[in-house]
Amino acid sequence: ALISMRQMLDHAAEFGYAVPAFNVNNLEQMRAIMLAADATDSPVIVQASAGARKYAGAPFLRHLILAAIEEFPHIPVVMHQDHGTSAAVCQQAIQLGFSSVMMDGSLGTDGKTPTDYEYNVNVTRRVVEMAHACGVSVEGELGCLGSLETGAAGEEDGIGADCILSHDQMLTDPEEAAQFVKATGVDALAIACGTSHGAYKFSRPPTGDILAIDRIKDIHARIPDTHLVMHGSSSVPQEWLAVINEYGGAIPETYGVPVEQIQEGIKYGVRKINIDTDLRLASTGAIRRYMAKNPAEFDPRKYLQESVKAMTEICKDRYLAFGTAGNA
Ligand code: G3H
Ligand code: 13P
Ligand code: ZN
Repeated sequence: ALISMRQMLDHAAEFGYAVPAFNVNNLEQMRAIMLAADATDSPVIVQASAGARKYAGAPFLRHLILAAIEEFPHIPVVMHQDHGTSAAVCQQAIQLGFSSVMMDGSLGTDGKTPTDYEYNVNVTRRVVEMAHACGVSVEGELGCLGSLETGAAGEEDGIGADCILSHDQMLTDPEEAAQFVKATGVDALAIACGTSHGAYKFSRPPTGDILAIDRIKDIHARIPDTHLVMHGSSSVPQEWLAVINEYGGAIPETYGVPVEQIQEGIKYGVRKINIDTDLRLASTGAIRRYMAKNPAEFDPRKYLQESVKAMTEICKDRYLAFGTAGNA
């Protein structure tokens, strides 16, 4: 059944678990997420970016998610707009039937340029008024995702590319977070703690100086009743990097957010964990391997089935690691 994010995350907070929010663009990702949720009895958040809408087209994307709900009626599903860059984008999502929207006012309408606090509060508050009138939940964001190692705001084709941020911008301030939540009425707050979008988060396994899980504790201490959201939470599995590179890929050495660090965050109010890159890596690795080993094969269902299997395993691992399993 389709439910609001507020309803799902309130349950997660009560029972001390978190829900991975997987990005969805196509049938294979959608099936992997639902098969894993079904196997582990997990509630589901599927999120669509503006890029996903462009790729699949809004009607296909909408019906893909509705089809999943129809096929798995016993699984609660949140249909979430990821990184809305304006009130208009959020309004379109609400019209399409999304039960949750992210108004990312930390960046301007180009999705790249950091904004000031006043702009963020005003645009987010307007979206909350509109969304709540329709029973739709809202996620806001305070602070900018970026690498504490380099100051870069994400990968080339990710959100917020080509921008160098200050150390302060990349760590959400707990006091400002409290003001922001009070002024906007958001249901969940995305915070910045050193993660960034895409595969290139850290050039070495992250330690406390470049991944500030401690900051989450400080924010949670200040706003214990607010559901926190961690973006850029892919773990960048080394085994999938190895498979990709073994079968013709060329991905340089890179590290993501270790699952144990995310689990630490879950102890301190993190309830929604955004993951896209891990499914992309698993899918690419599985398809590269299948094609290399089966050079005469040309039925797309054969290699896409491998993609579904690989992504299903990642989803299952996360449902189990985040305590989502058993809560559908
Ligand atoms: O937040 C970024 C997500 O990974 C979505 O990426 O804009 O390429 O669909 P995308
Ligand atoms: P990753 O690129 O780490 O998977 O993050 C995805 C994300 O935050 C989507 O909003
Ligand atoms: Zn994000």
